[in-house]
Order: sequence, then structure tokens, then C-alpha cells
Amino acid sequence: MSSTSSLRGPDPDRGLAAADLAGVRLAVENRLAQLLAAHPGVPPNLQGAVRHATLAPSKRVRPVLLVLIADPDPLMEQSALDVGCAVEMVHTASLILDDLPCMDDALMRRERPTTHLEFGQSTAILSAIALLTRAFGLIAELSLVAPQTRTRLAAVLSQAVGWDGLVAGQEIDVNGREALVGAEQVENLNWLKTGILFVAAAEMGAILAGFDEPRIDAVRRFARHFGLAFQTADDLLDRSGSAEQAGKDVGKDVDKATLVSLFGASHARLTCEEHLARADAALGESGVREEPVRALMAKLFGALPASAS
Ligand code: IPE
Ligand code: IPE
Ligand code: MG
Ligand code: MG
Ligand code: MG
Repeated sequence: MSSTSSLRGPDPDRGLAAADLAGVRLAVENRLAQLLAAHPGVPPNLQGAVRHATLAPSKRVRPVLLVLIADPDPLMEQSALDVGCAVEMVHTASLILDDLPCMDDALMRRERPTTHLEFGQSTAILSAIALLTRAFGLIAELSLVAPQTRTRLAAVLSQAVGWDGLVAGQEIDVNGREALVGAEQVENLNWLKTGILFVAAAEMGAILAGFDEPRIDAVRRFARHFGLAFQTADDLLDRSGSAEQAGKDVGKDVDKATLVSLFGASHARLTCEEHLARADAALGESGVREEPVRALMAKLFGALPASAS
């Protein structure tokens, strides 16, 4: 996903529908930068921390996925981008907190010093709260989306992040790992801390696209396997990658129970590939335009077997 590619792709009249992956990612990044532009009344240090964490180099997987699934017509582009940015804000908040000394105690994130190193722990925590709350405000303010749909989007995101979602996953990750001894328990952790937000992003895209329940169900299954593959690949990267390659600290989770630490890298790679095959099958059932989503998967996972061995 090179950021040098054009925003719109070959056909400006078709907008995002004609953009390549880099174009969609760039559209997300441009909108994020607009949404987080200088704002009177926000302490400069807090603004700096929010922008430092959010506008740093990132794959933007969740909002790109959401926009690809929503496949918006030109009138709905801005709404789809805003919902994608809301998910990205939640994700960034989770990263700021994940890096704190009381959590993973990381030094580097998105090729930059972690937010607490650069701005202090108190501002880092407050910037995560600011991003989380702004995310739900953005959804409430979607003027071109019917109020009932806005409510539904907010509920999907809230359920994914809440105390039985991502937050539960992070609690188990940090304070409950000793209890994780089997693959099923580790996969449940991966589901909560990572998979659940992938499903929320994909489901929000499907809601914006107006999918019926069977198609939304297929989208959820697709994103669940995608998210589980993603966290397993991340754990492989944590074990075998370099900080330079990852843009963040590696080796942070080697002493924790992961599929890699419990069962070895080859087994984890196999599990990852199984999830990708299942994701692919569910994608076929969903009726989502497959080509750009497959391109995203190839971009993210194409190098998995070689790089993680
Ligand atoms: C990092 O997410 C946290 C995990 C769930 C593994 P990403 O790998 O999507 O991070 P960015 O957004 O590209 O920085
Ligand atoms: C990712 O867990 C989960 C969340 C941030 C919610 P990790 O701890 O593996 O993420 P990285 O590797 O620090 O990005
Ligand atoms: Mg962590
Ligand atoms: Mg971490
Ligand atoms: Mg990790």
C-alpha cells in the first residue's frame, strides 16, 4: 500500500469504488488528518499526543476493510470514511493503552516513540480517552446516515470494545495469561483483543452497504477468521520479526501464552493459514466485491510463511 499511488484511481466519477488499496488508505488518512486538525480549546500537548498516535504510519487495515465492504457510491463516501475513522480512533486508543508501562511497556509504535514516552503517561491516557469518545461522536454526527442506522453502528462498535470485548481481551492478556493453557483459550483471547474489532469494522461496512442478515453473517465470519489470522501473524512477527520491520517493539509477548509460544511457529503458521482459507470461503458467500479484499489479504499475509519461519 504505497502512499504515492493516486487517491482516486483511473475513473474519478466512480470515486472510491475505482481506487486501489493505496487510494482507499490515503482517503482514510486524509480524512483522519482533517478530523484531527488543530482545534481551539484543546490543550496543545493533548492535541499533539492524539495526532502523534493517530497520524503515524499505519496499515489502516480496519478502516480500509470497512470502506471496501461498504463500497460506497460517491454520495456515501464521506460517511463510510467517517465510520472507518471512528474505528481507527478506537484502534489507536487501544494501542496507546497497550503500550503503557503497566501493559506491554513498549518504546516504539508506528515507527515513532510511544505516546507516553513522547508526551507522558497522563497525557497518553487522556489522549486515548479523547479518541474513544470522539469515535462515538463521529458516528452520532453522520448527517447522511439515517438515525436508526447511526444507533446500530454505535451499538456494534460499543459491543466490540466494551468490557466483554476488546477491553476484556486486554484484561486477560495483561492479568490473566497464566490461565491460558490450550489453543482454544488463546484463540478466545485473540478473538477478544483483536478479532472482535475486525468483525465490528466489517459489520459496520456491511450495514452501510445495506446488506441483509445472511450477508452480514457471512461478513462477520469472514472478518472473524481474518482477525484471528491477523493476531497470529502479529504474534509470529513478535517472535521472529525486527523492530525495524514491524515499526514497533518486538519480543514483547514471547513470555506470554500465544499460539507461537505454546505450540511453536510452524503450528501457528498453519493455524493462520487455516483461518485465511476460512476467511476466503466466507468472503465468497458474502457477496462483497472480492478482488480488493483479496488484494488486501495478499498484501498483509502474502509474505507470512517465509518471513515468519
Ligand atoms: C496492531 O494492529 C495491534 C494488533 C491487533 C496486532 P495493526 O497491526 O493493525 O497496527 P497499525 O494500525 O498498522 O499500526
Ligand atoms: C494487540 O495486542 C491488541 C490490542 C492492542 C488491543 P499486541 O500487544 O500483540 O499488539 P502489538 O503487537 O503491541 O501491536
Ligand atoms: Mg498487548
Ligand atoms: Mg503490545
Ligand atoms: Mg503483538
